[in-house]
Amino acid sequence: MVKPPSSSAAPGGAGGRGPAHHRTRLLLLLLLAVAACASTAGFLLRGAMLDACDEARGDSSAVATARTGAVAGSPLGFMRSKLVLLVSHELSLSGGPLLLMELAFLLRQVGSQVVWITNQRSEETNDVTYSLEHKMLSHGVQVLPARGQEAIDNALKADLVVLNTAVAGKWLDAVLKDHVPQVLPKILWWIHEMRGHYFKLEYVKHLPLVAGAMIDSHTTAEYWKTRTHDRLKIQMPQTYVVHLGNSKELMEVAEDNVARRVLREHIRESLGVWSEDLVFAIINSVSRGKGQDLFLQAFYQSLQLIQQKKLKVPTMHAVVVGSDMNAQTKFETQLREFVVKNAIQDQVHFVNKTLAVAPYLAAIDVLVQNSQVSHNFDAAPFFLFFPVH
Ligand SMILES: *[C@@H]1O[C@H](CO)[C@@H](O)[C@H](O)[C@H]1NC(C)=O
Repeated sequence: MVKPPSSSAAPGGAGGRGPAHHRTRLLLLLLLAVAACASTAGFLLRGAMLDACDEARGDSSAVATARTGAVAGSPLGFMRSKLVLLVSHELSLSGGPLLLMELAFLLRQVGSQVVWITNQRSEETNDVTYSLEHKMLSHGVQVLPARGQEAIDNALKADLVVLNTAVAGKWLDAVLKDHVPQVLPKILWWIHEMRGHYFKLEYVKHLPLVAGAMIDSHTTAEYWKTRTHDRLKIQMPQTYVVHLGNSKELMEVAEDNVARRVLREHIRESLGVWSEDLVFAIINSVSRGKGQDLFLQAFYQSLQLIQQKKLKVPTMHAVVVGSDMNAQTKFETQLREFVVKNAIQDQVHFVNKTLAVAPYLAAIDVLVQNSQVSHNFDAAPFFLFFPVH
């Protein structure tokens, strides 16, 4: 595990350019460590195992924290009693909010005071929102209305404000108004968006003045850098790349022999898949750019190939976990039409978004993950295949 901290890395410690600057920088560095722990397989693998990033945690956190040289016991120990305001663009079972929630719980574990704000709250009572809020409250995360004096007070008092996603930038002017300049130096802006229509001043005009930006891949960071410069004539702040990875804990549940057998049987039965069938799955919110279309095309092509070459292989299935017919209807409708058109309904299974992903990891044989091709951002994602078992 990680080396003990050097004393100069403690909050308010020696060196740096003034305590405020130093503190901000330190917070950023340690958040990198957190984010390295806050990992996903796809974007949905959160919730079931939220106590990530403990002492026994894996390599990425160790590397990140070792680099910062600022670790005391828990890598986040220094965040004890700090006030952190998390601003989420929405609260749903999609990657962005779930990652932020995980961060909230990690901070709670080390004794931070955590306040959560959801900028776009859906009007209708929503079971998902309700249960996620409930989960946060039960972890001691305070949930506040996005607007109003209390939100402003917390932003002013906070030691750190995390704005989650580019879209959340709308919250700044709308709520903080004149106070925006006071809050900007404490903002870590965690950006997950990868596509062009988010490059709008409406969202990101304050980006140059925040303490730092955190982006999920080098390709995306590069894309943000050039797009904001070329199109918006603004400069990115200090930007940190923190990859999302697979959740080690979820993988361990999925690998546990007894649990795995039970979960595997249960899920396979619910999908109508035999135990000897071969199951590929992609676990992501179904949306354009996440690669489910390519996954299904590849799956269909391999079925054709098997048929043409008369290969003897087990019956194959494709499982798409992350379906949401309320949200990305057009894209998902296209996927479903593709399936029907090619008559592969019996072998393609759509599963609604869920926090309980471990059973699917246990039930499948191959997890498919998307990735972006370097230097050619708009190119289609390609896939990494690796055996789950
Ligand atoms: C999946 O979600 C849709 C709405 O998006 C809902 O109608 C359906 O009942 C859900 N299916 C399951 C099995 O929960």
